Parts: sequence; structure tokens; C-alpha cells
Amino acid sequence: MTEPFIRLDGVSKTYRTRGKEFLAVSEASFDVAPGELVALVGPSGCGKTTLLKALAGLHGHDGGTLRIGSPEHPFDPARDIGMVFQQPLLLKWRRILDNVLLPAEILGLPMTESRGRARDLLALVGLTGFEDKYPYELSGGMQQRAAIARALIHDPKLVLMDEPFGALDALTRDKMNLELLRIWAQSRKTIVFVTHGITEAVFLGTRVIVLTAGPARMADNIVIDLPHPRSFDLRTHERFGDYTRRIYRLLGIE
Ligand SMILES: Nc1ncnc2c1ncn2[C@@H]1O[C@H](COP(=O)(O)OP(=O)(O)OP(=O)(O)O)[C@@H](O)[C@H]1O
Ligand SMILES: [Mg+2]
Repeated sequence: MTEPFIRLDGVSKTYRTRGKEFLAVSEASFDVAPGELVALVGPSGCGKTTLLKALAGLHGHDGGTLRIGSPEHPFDPARDIGMVFQQPLLLKWRRILDNVLLPAEILGLPMTESRGRARDLLALVGLTGFEDKYPYELSGGMQQRAAIARALIHDPKLVLMDEPFGALDALTRDKMNLELLRIWAQSRKTIVFVTHGITEAVFLGTRVIVLTAGPARMADNIVIDLPHPRSFDLRTHERFGDYTRRIYRLLGIE
């Protein structure tokens, strides 16, 4: 069996603010294999972003162990993570190409090479011809695609996505789901994808981790045994319905 790329074992996170403690994540345990696209799904406030921040090393955790990489395959959070947030967070005074190049600049990567890579990535996300535009000249979906290109510029081993399509209309979101699967298939990155959307999680994920609120508890870890490449026909697949019903039930929606 392949060595897991990420291993969480009983990871908890308590926030301490103004003398109060709040348990946001309680004993999360799961593995992610290299190249998997794992969806984390759960209600608002259940601790998804908290868990993603722990994976990104943006804050610590109090209990359990969290390991990414291995002694043979060392992992450097500063270098090996690409993040995509709910909002594109592009710098409005920079052109699209220069926005994509930002992490390369920060990491001090060779710029000539990075510029070529930025163009290739913009092609990958369908933004050829928009390199010299400013963010305001792009639609929300296009800006989010630029943000995905930016997350990939430094060739990270792990891409963490926090509800990246949450602010988009349903049709654009559907299109972005297909784009993401295409990008994932081409780049072979390991992706952890946070979403509220149960059908989105099942459609995208090789695995879906279900979190429930109060405090965040891992309710299930479901391997999605549906073929790749995926198309929307899959949504009418009997097993697709079985998976979504199972998750709705876990979240108390029936
Ligand atoms: N810095 C913080 N200090 C104190 N409590 C926090 C902090 N950040 C988050 N929380 C609390 O931890 C819980 C989990 O928050 P988190 O942002 O991880 O939820 P989420 O699942 O990402 O929600 P959403 O789907 O709405 O983004 C919430 O109850 C929130 O109030
Ligand atoms: Mg969140």
C-alpha cells in the first residue's frame, strides 16, 4: 500500500480568546494518499477552515499528530502548499499574470522561468489572452480561475481549497467543478477541498470526509468509488445517489 501523504491522528484544535476556550475540532483522524482529491464537507462553523489552517501550518493544534510528507519525501509548508480561498483575493493593481506570479516572487523563484509557467497555467485554467488584464476586467469565475493558477505557480505538492466556488452562481460552479477535475487530472496534485455542497463533494472527491458541528466531529470517511474522468451524467448514477443520501443523513437532513 502507498504511504499516506497526509496523516492526521486524533487532531484537536481549541481556540483561546479573551480567557475563553472553544473546541473547534475534536479528534480528527484520516489519511490522504498522494494524488487524492479529498473533500471535507460539513455545516457552517463545524471546523472545516480550522482543519485546513492546521494542515497549512497557519496555526498549531493541541492534541494528536499531524504529519505531511515523510523522511524520504520531506514537506516544507512554506514551499509546498498552494491555497485557494472563497474569494479570489487578487491584488487589484496587478495584472492577471503578475497576480499569478506573486508566490514565485515571494519565494524568490527564477522569474523568467516562472513567467513561462504562469502563462502555461493561465492556459490550463482557460485564461489565455487575459494575462495583461486587471482583475476588475474579469468575471468572478475567471478571477477564481486566476487564483487557482496562482496557487499552482510554485508547483506545490499540496493544494488546499477553502470553498473556492462558494461565491459563484450555480452554473459557473458546475463549470468550475469540471475544470478543477481536469486540472487535477493534468497536474496530479494532492488536493484537500472544503465545501458546503454535498453533491459537489461527491462529484469531485476520491474521498469525502464528513464533519458534524458542535464540536466538530468526524462523522464519516467515505471512499467514493465512482469512475474518472467524471462528467455530470454521474449525478444520475445510482451509487452517486447512495453517497449523497448517506451524507445528508449524517448531517441530519432527510
Ligand atoms: N480565531 C478564532 N477564535 C475563536 N474561535 C474561532 C476562531 N476561528 C474560528 N472560530 C470558531 O471555531 C468554529 C469553527 O470555525 P471554522 O471557521 O473552522 O468553521 P467552518 O466549518 O470553516 O465554517 P464555514 O463553513 O462557515 O466557513 C466556529 O464556531 C468559530 O466560531
Ligand atoms: Mg470556513
